[in-house]
Amino acid sequence: MSISMPEQNETSEVSVNTSVTKKCSPKSDSPTNTAVSRTQKYNDLTAIPNFLPDSNEAEEPVYLDERIAIPNLKYKNHGTEEEALKVLQLAIKFKNSSKLEKAKKLFEHALSLQPLQPDVINSYAEFLEEHANDLITADHLYVKTLTLCPNHSKALINRNRTMSIVELMDEQEFVKIDKKRNDLINRNHNESFMKHIKKEVYFLHIHHTVAIEGNTMSLAETRKVVETKLVIPGKSIREHNEILGLDSALRFMNQTYVNHSRPLSLFDILQIHKRVLGHVDPISAGSLRESQVFVGEYVPPPASEVEFLMEQFVDWFKMENMTHLHPVKKAALAHYKFIHIHPFMDGNGRTARLLMNLVLMRAGYPPVIIWKKDRSVYFEMLQIANEGDIRPFIRFIVSCTEYILDVFLNDGEYDTTYLKALHSEMACQTDLIPL
Ligand SMILES: *[C@@H]1O[C@H](CO)[C@@H](O)[C@H](O)[C@H]1NC(C)=O
Repeated sequence: MSISMPEQNETSEVSVNTSVTKKCSPKSDSPTNTAVSRTQKYNDLTAIPNFLPDSNEAEEPVYLDERIAIPNLKYKNHGTEEEALKVLQLAIKFKNSSKLEKAKKLFEHALSLQPLQPDVINSYAEFLEEHANDLITADHLYVKTLTLCPNHSKALINRNRTMSIVELMDEQEFVKIDKKRNDLINRNHNESFMKHIKKEVYFLHIHHTVAIEGNTMSLAETRKVVETKLVIPGKSIREHNEILGLDSALRFMNQTYVNHSRPLSLFDILQIHKRVLGHVDPISAGSLRESQVFVGEYVPPPASEVEFLMEQFVDWFKMENMTHLHPVKKAALAHYKFIHIHPFMDGNGRTARLLMNLVLMRAGYPPVIIWKKDRSVYFEMLQIANEGDIRPFIRFIVSCTEYILDVFLNDGEYDTTYLKALHSEMACQTDLIPL
């Protein structure tokens, strides 16, 4: 069975598409609007700090090209529906007699037999809610059940129960990171620790955003390329250019857009992309794609629609400046919407992460790092967003934001916990996942 790619509904976060399994009939009113109206204003900072290290270099053109792939997490049936439902009955029996370990194994087995069987997903979610204390996953799985089968009566009841609680839990996460952001804004940004950590984080940022696409340079090598522009023996020109391109794009974005509240235009996005890809390929750097691309199983919109979709994206971006969407949510949505369009032949992932970070930096957050060790989670969350529930991706970005805030805030522990964490990242340079 294939998964369709529903259009995201940006205000509701959860969109239930109308594709149905053979057992389901479409339902006219979809049960979804989870948007909360916000009274808080987020963009009222007068002087926001800047989290990039000081630079007196003018940015210069660089050269590269790239590939991004969202791996296809295809759902594969390992058994028939009949088998899955049989196992499910057994799982429920064990659950009801409190043999939870056994029940869990059977639920998981049923899921592996038929990963998209609505009853299996819904019952497993009930199990997670009742016995694993995992309301967030349970709620996501109720949404997933309803995506597959909009009139699934049990899932509708379940979702009704969990929706508002989960919304509240998500809100609390935003409150938590806002508090950390405010703490960080009030720190002295001229002290040497702060300068030092900005620099460290800058190199980590460049390293991970190219490593996630398959660049094999270590953190130390990345730093050397940026700082000295010297060649690392045994590494390709392309890999050097990917690093120099990111450095150039970041500095350009920082100088040109971060401290300006004027709305981003399509031209601006092309300018950023031009730096990311460099000037060696004047055809594709800074221009929208003119042919179809394929990203695993995901087929982005046809090239003929890209310009229109990008204009819509830019309009959304502008409009959201005026609404009270939380900046971290906006950043995650901007990333998702952009990658969904996939407007370029190359460099889409890196440009998406830059735009996300632009939103964050404009709102006084440090740019987030998506660590290469989190690559598969990152792609999985994007895939889940494609399937109709963007909240897991937003939560993932929230957790990345909190992590980087902690790195900046824990100056006391910098030499112990966080530095260790950063160094263990530096050490694991052999774990490259080939694309
Ligand atoms: C980023 O912008 C700030 C503020 O304008 C500036 O002081 C800093 O040098 C810039 N850093 C980089 C790497 O561009």
